[in-house]
Amino acid sequence: MPTLTRHCPQPADTDALGAALADALRARRLPAALLTLRGDLGAGKTTLVRALLRGLGVTGRIKSPTYALVERYRVANRLQFNENLEKQVYHVDLYRFSSEDDWHDAGLRELLDGRSLCLVEWPERAPQLVPRADLDIVLEPSGEGRIVRLRSGSAEGTALLDWVASHTV
Ligand SMILES: Nc1ncnc2c1ncn2[C@@H]1O[C@H](COP(=O)(O)OP(=O)(O)O)[C@@H](O)[C@H]1O
Ligand SMILES: [Mg+2]
Repeated sequence: MPTLTRHCPQPADTDALGAALADALRARRLPAALLTLRGDLGAGKTTLVRALLRGLGVTGRIKSPTYALVERYRVANRLQFNENLEKQVYHVDLYRFSSEDDWHDAGLRELLDGRSLCLVEWPERAPQLVPRADLDIVLEPSGEGRIVRLRSGSAEGTALLDWVASHTV
C-alpha cells in the first residue's frame, strides 16, 4: 500500500500536515474513515489531531482524550449538498485502555463501525478490536523534530494520501 513520509522540524510543520489532512478529508467530502496514530508519548499524535480538527472547523477546546478514551466533535460539512448537515468526528486515545469493558462502556464498537470519521491514538493497545485503518500515521523523533510516515490501508486512504502528497512538500 502507498506510503508518504514528511519531515516536521517544528510543531508548526506538524500542524500544517494536520491541516493538509483536514483539507484532504474535505476534498473527499468527509468520508467515514479510520485514521490511526502511533508513536511514543510526546511524539506529536495529539498535536497532529488538534490541527486536523481545527482544519475541519472545530473551534472549542480540544482536550486529549487520555482519560475519557473518546471525545466527540461536530463539524459542519459544508461540502455536502445539505449546507446544515453536521457530522461527528471522534478522537480516541487508547493509551489507558485496559479491558473490553472499557471498550463497551465508551461505545467504541459503534463508533468504529465504519460510519464516521475516527482519529485513534494508540491503536496498538487494542490490536484485536481496532479495525484496519484507512490511514496509519507513525510519528518518530528526528533530531529536535519528527518524521511522520503515513501508510494507506484502503482505497479511501490512498485517495487521502494522494491528495496530501500533491498539496504538501
Ligand atoms: N515537530 C513536532 N511535531 C509535534 N510536536 C512536537 C514537534 N516538536 C516538538 N514537539 C512537542 O512534542 C509534544 C507532542 O505532544 P503530543 O502531541 O501531546 O504527543 P502525543 O499525543 O504523541 O503523546 C508537544 O509538547 C510539542 O510541542
Ligand atoms: Mg496524545
